[in-house]
Amino acid sequence: MREQFLQVKNEALSLIIDADERKELEEIKIQFLGKKGKFTVLLKTISKLPLNVRPQLGVLANEVKTTIEEAFARRALELSRGAEEGDGAWFDVTLPGKKPKLGHLHPQTLVLDEIIDIFKSLGYQIADGPEIESDHYNFEMLNFPKDHPARDTQQTLNLKNLPDKEGQPLILRTHGSNMQGRIMEKVIPPCRVIYPGKVYRYEQTDASHGFEFWQVEGLALDKNITLTDLFGTFEYVLKQFFGQHTQVRFAAHNFPFTEPSTEVYVTCAVCRGKGCSFCKKSGWVEIAGAGMIHPNVLKAAGIDSKIWQGFAFGFGMSRMVTLKYQMDDLRLLTNPDLRILEQF
Ligand code: PHE
Repeated sequence: MREQFLQVKNEALSLIIDADERKELEEIKIQFLGKKGKFTVLLKTISKLPLNVRPQLGVLANEVKTTIEEAFARRALELSRGAEEGDGAWFDVTLPGKKPKLGHLHPQTLVLDEIIDIFKSLGYQIADGPEIESDHYNFEMLNFPKDHPARDTQQTLNLKNLPDKEGQPLILRTHGSNMQGRIMEKVIPPCRVIYPGKVYRYEQTDASHGFEFWQVEGLALDKNITLTDLFGTFEYVLKQFFGQHTQVRFAAHNFPFTEPSTEVYVTCAVCRGKGCSFCKKSGWVEIAGAGMIHPNVLKAAGIDSKIWQGFAFGFGMSRMVTLKYQMDDLRLLTNPDLRILEQF
């Protein structure tokens, strides 16, 4: 009898441990503890035994029952926990929530917004134009005759398989000045416009050069505009942007579409003019090209250069970003490393 109780106990326990569903567990319970269950039937036989053995067996039967019941409870709990973890139906509402990561603006966008605000305060409008461009707007209209050596300075990327209407290959615009002709053809002066956008050149990349970079180009057309208006505009814009301590320097240059032309430098904001790899140890960084719009360009756009004059300019915006945030390498701007981007 004793052995029979122990056998029922062992059998029940091994089945309980192996059960992996609640339903199965319930069935095992009925199989052992139900009205006709193995344990119940065995328990009933005690009453038919001689009186002297009953108490001992009664104690054993109680122990076996408790052990089996405890095993059921334990396994039921384990199974219900597993189910909760598995389908996510249960969760601890007292746990602190996970904060969703907030996105933020890229440093280029921050700088662009700031530049736009500064120019807007001077009465400029904002325009946008195509990055895939024809030779006409990128060169011809800007007084770059065919075979002119100045074209070499532009390191043009030709789209050989993408011809324009005349069968000439389209190009990736090498500068935002493609918009100069497009705008002047359409507007009635006076006008002031900036046109930020991406430009492309076949260029070896280094700390301060990229093959794909942002420019903010623009123009002002009016009566009696002179070179000093251009100088004044640059002083104002660059000091607003980099801070009043910044010095601005103009150096004579040559662009086919402006006459006279100038390159514009600011004191290097990375080293504050002391000299570093970003400014090639000179303390100055070239930040823009500019000049008075060439009469040939005005003429090509149908504007009478005897009445209207203007200046045009092109800022290297990617450089303005790296200078503003004192990054010593322009390539960081296209690096997707979040450790860089999270600093803004
Ligand atoms: N387009 C010139 C460049 O990309 C900049 C420039 C714009 C110069 C307008 C003069 C006038 O270098």
